[in-house]
Amino acid sequence: MTEKKLYSKKNEAYLISENKSIFIKKIFSSLTAKDDEEKLLKILDGEFAPKLLFSNENSLCIEYIEGMDYVDLLMLGEAESANFLGKFLAEFIIKFIKKTSLILTDENLHHYILNKDKGIVRVDFEEYREGTLKEWATKIAAFSILYDGIKIEIIKEFLNAFLTRLNYNLFSLKNEIINEAEIILKRRNRNDFDFSLYFD
Ligand SMILES: Nc1ncnc2c1ncn2[C@@H]1O[C@H](COP(=O)(O)OP(=O)(O)O)[C@@H](O)[C@H]1O
Ligand SMILES: [Mg+2]
Repeated sequence: MTEKKLYSKKNEAYLISENKSIFIKKIFSSLTAKDDEEKLLKILDGEFAPKLLFSNENSLCIEYIEGMDYVDLLMLGEAESANFLGKFLAEFIIKFIKKTSLILTDENLHHYILNKDKGIVRVDFEEYREGTLKEWATKIAAFSILYDGIKIEIIKEFLNAFLTRLNYNLFSLKNEIINEAEIILKRRNRNDFDFSLYFD
């Protein structure tokens, strides 16, 4: 058996290879979070999400989703693909809300993996609630503008495509996005972000 520790702030996540199988083991620091994630993974049953393989006392074994995540994809810096990724993500969240009436509230572009057979697969289902497309889109946009390491022009291309597909744009959601981004910045003890990069 081999284990590779994955980047995780709240919990511990491992990529495990055992015999010929490969899966994710996520060890939770909160049992409520574990129960919430387990509940939603069961409802989704492999749609939009990895399949739940096994539930233990404080951990879940989850299907491994192969592919690059949205941060890695956007870091490639290709405008055309940023545009495609934006539209595709908008369609994903439209379908998700239609099916579940839920929005996922722990947003992070690492949570969206592009798999060659399944399209977008979301990971990390601890935090969700009933909500609107507008609220969800705002959260995704706020996180996106704060990524270091992705070119601003690429994030703009991605967000314009994403928001346009949802009948919004950066300016129609300006106040909402800035409010949400300020909450994230406060949490990170940062107050140096220049919003005029996106909203001038
Ligand atoms: N099923 C999966 N397939 C592939 N990678 C995954 C999977 N689940 C999680 N990951 C990777 O591991 C990271 C941490 O997992 P996540 O569920 O987000 O834990 P945490 O709640 O601690 O943030 C994710 O950001 C993602 O990069
Ligand atoms: Mg996570």
